Amino acid sequence: MKRIFSGVQPTGNLHLGNYLGAIRNWVQLQKDYESIFCVVDMHAITVWQDPAELTRTTREVTAAYIAAGIDPEACIIFHQSAVPGHAQLAWVFNCVARMGWLNRMTQFKEKAGKHKENASVGLFAYPDLMAADILLYKATHVPVGEDQKQHLELTRDIAQKFNNDFGREVFPITEPLILGTATRVMSLRDGSKKMSKSETSDFSRINLRDDADLIAQKIRKAKTDPEPLPSEIAGLENRPEAANLVGIFAALSDSTREAVLAEHGGQPFSAFKQSLTDLSVEVLGPMNAEMNRLLANPDEIDAILKRGAERAQAIAGPILDEVYETVGFLRP
Ligand code: TYM
Repeated sequence: MKRIFSGVQPTGNLHLGNYLGAIRNWVQLQKDYESIFCVVDMHAITVWQDPAELTRTTREVTAAYIAAGIDPEACIIFHQSAVPGHAQLAWVFNCVARMGWLNRMTQFKEKAGKHKENASVGLFAYPDLMAADILLYKATHVPVGEDQKQHLELTRDIAQKFNNDFGREVFPITEPLILGTATRVMSLRDGSKKMSKSETSDFSRINLRDDADLIAQKIRKAKTDPEPLPSEIAGLENRPEAANLVGIFAALSDSTREAVLAEHGGQPFSAFKQSLTDLSVEVLGPMNAEMNRLLANPDEIDAILKRGAERAQAIAGPILDEVYETVGFLRP
């Protein structure tokens, strides 16, 4: 059986990187996989979150999933803290994963920065919770952007060590699915930096809740170079900003970078940016409208999350029982 699990943290603004690197791919995959999509609120609190804001962004990410085209009937959509097995399995994995493994995680180093001693223990143990998210459902595939690759390798290591330690094939060795032309969307202001929720300049990213005017302004101001667009991929070398905009265009139009360059090669950036704006507004506009509609009806969102949590629990419960029994925990 093929089952996918993936999630987004409800922190700050959802942006085009989250959409193109993850959510848009899920919409395609839901047809072929049993699909579980989580709003990972427990991951969010590894750095400080204002409580009211966390509640709001949990609903906002849920609305984005649905507005993007994830079918809450066919798929399971829920928030992490509603299924206690995530925390329970994460504890077992805290005891399986080694300090040395977690010490190598680049995301911890980036997020903790110079103030490592002051980072939360949760931020350090974050990848164990992520492994628990995935393996609590024995997910076989995990669709994510490129930045999550290292965490997924750790998930595989944890599954393997658990299976070896206990001499039982309890967990599958999960495959990452890093798909499409926008697996790493870069900042609009600096083609060497990832587009990110935490970047201070709002002009570095397109947020899923930006309106058409703001999208147009941000694309107009996006950093480029003075040369026109090349007609072939080789011409994008050492032009990170140009490569980024072409990758975004290809992903938004379900096309390839080659096809985009064949059509737009030779154009000055002013013309290409206008086409990219029109395309972005065409794709994001209806999503934005649906998100606004859903967010005006929080009861509808909460009902979807509640039903999703019940369905997730029905899968997770027996798997956690199997783990507890394997570990030797006396069952009441
Ligand atoms: P998060 O919330 O940072 O990002 C959610 C998804 O968006 C992708 N992404 C990007 N893709 C392309 N370009 C970008 N600039 C970009 N920025 C973000 C991420 O790769 C991700 O797929 N640890 C995860 C959340 C998580 C999770 C899980 C994911 C928790 N448990 C279990 C999969 C399975 C995270 O922080 O994603």
